[in-house]
Amino acid sequence: MSTAISPTAYNYKVVRQFAIMTVVWGILGMGLGVFIASQLVWPELNFDLPWTTFGRLRPLHTNLVIFAFGGCALFATSYYVVQRTCQTRLISDSLAAFTFWGWQAVIVGAIVTLPLGYTTTKEYAELEWPLAILLAIVWVTYGLVFFGTITKRKTKHIYVGNWFYGAFIVVTAMLHIVNHASLPVSFFKSYSAYAGATDAMIQWWYGHNAVGFFLTTGFLGMMYYFVPKQAERPIYSYRLSIVHFWALITLYIWAGPHHLHYTALPDWAQSLGMAMSIILLAPSWGGMINGMMTLSGAWHKLRTDPILRFLVVSLAFYGMSTFEGPMMAIKTVNSLSHYTDWTIGHVHAGALGWVAMISIGALYHLIPRVFGRQQMHSTGLINTHFWLATIGTVLYIASMWVNGITQGLMWRAINDDGTLTYSFVEALQASHPGFIVRALGGAFFAAGMLIMAYNVFRTVRASNPAEAEAAAQIAVVGAH
Ligand code: HEM
Ligand code: HEM
Repeated sequence: MSTAISPTAYNYKVVRQFAIMTVVWGILGMGLGVFIASQLVWPELNFDLPWTTFGRLRPLHTNLVIFAFGGCALFATSYYVVQRTCQTRLISDSLAAFTFWGWQAVIVGAIVTLPLGYTTTKEYAELEWPLAILLAIVWVTYGLVFFGTITKRKTKHIYVGNWFYGAFIVVTAMLHIVNHASLPVSFFKSYSAYAGATDAMIQWWYGHNAVGFFLTTGFLGMMYYFVPKQAERPIYSYRLSIVHFWALITLYIWAGPHHLHYTALPDWAQSLGMAMSIILLAPSWGGMINGMMTLSGAWHKLRTDPILRFLVVSLAFYGMSTFEGPMMAIKTVNSLSHYTDWTIGHVHAGALGWVAMISIGALYHLIPRVFGRQQMHSTGLINTHFWLATIGTVLYIASMWVNGITQGLMWRAINDDGTLTYSFVEALQASHPGFIVRALGGAFFAAGMLIMAYNVFRTVRASNPAEAEAAAQIAVVGAH
């Protein structure tokens, strides 16, 4: 391996920008999560002001954690992975910079408009049409940069991680554009192009595939690069990864109706969604096993490497939430879980345990490399972060399981004369201890993010721009 400095280098600048913003938005989004969780414990925290009520801050939380935190992590890692595995620089620095600034502008737009009450009312698609159009333009540009870079690759092969990132980019564009078709009536208000049950079906086709492609497929791209890299082992089975890819993208797109059980949606569509969700267990676990087995012969590294621990525990939570999801998609189970905190627990098993943990692991791997450092400032602090995140996630999901099942059973309990045994308020009172434990678990998780920010700050401060550029150049030569 030569250390000669090549005239060409990777574009690490945009990776650095997105990586730093992942941490910033992670702190804000999760901090807001802790705040709204506290509002459910102490309603006084709504402050009787319209823009600080739970109803307005909840969508801001979901937008910040999914699109700002998760989105920036996906941009940072996909730009890093596509360059390194294709051994070429991004096709255009200016388009890549446009995706960075454009994405931040969309997020700032969300921070301003959602608390003011401007919303389409569609969950995870709340942004009104001017911001939705900006988002579509940024996303199509992202696709151009990503696929353009793949076309000028120096390698014959397209590494499987890029397949997952590619599917996530294409499908997200399709979902966003179709679900946002609407008629604007003013600068801040539009009406959906669809009506009634069709509108609901399109929305949950979007919503479920936002989970499947934004919160799953993109992060699987991350998994296929960072798990083998950090474990210093090749992926367990390349063949399984290809089967995993095709099975996952073929099945996910049909599962949306499980969000609309017992509604006006035709019964056959609900049953189809249920059946497809159960089948989805197979590719989900195939992928999880492929990631886990990559550690064969490297399990001992878990004792000393907290970054690897983040990655492996994220896979465990991925396996858990993709077992729970198919179970909740069964209509009889859903009749108990729907509307309850069980759903919220399932969401955060995926969101904290899988999405956030794998992103954090990938960032700890990537940040020193793009800033020209050997490693993060402190491995001990990564370890502390790991335990805060793991304990926080367990507290969150365990409390929501208890709450969810309690709520579901109390709501359906009936007396001999057919009247309800419990009033809604009684079920709410029974949920109060669980709300406290959830807020505590969330605070643990968010505290871990603050420790990460300090560790990243110390790592970045110890770097200098020349070293970072040298790292980018040597990597091109060193990649052979
Ligand atoms: C410190 C960490 C976090 C805390 C304390 C937290 C807290 C909350 C709370 C209180 C809600 C509202 C629940 C309700 O309506 O009853 C919520 C909803 C939600 N959060 Fe989080 N959250 C955190 C992190 C995350 C992360 C990292 C993600 C995604 C990557 C995420 C995604 C979501 C989603 C998708 C919902 C809506 C769920 C639904 O409608 O079923 N959260 N969160
Ligand atoms: C095989 C995989 C999965 C299946 C079949 C599945 C299935 C389900 C089901 C049945 C619900 C409840 C719908 C309802 O009662 O309204 C649900 C909700 C949800 N799941 Fe999953 N899930 C899977 C994996 C995941 C993963 C990995 C994540 C996150 C990273 C996730 C995020 C969510 C979110 C955000 C919701 C709440 C949607 C809402 O109502 O706002 N799911 N899922």
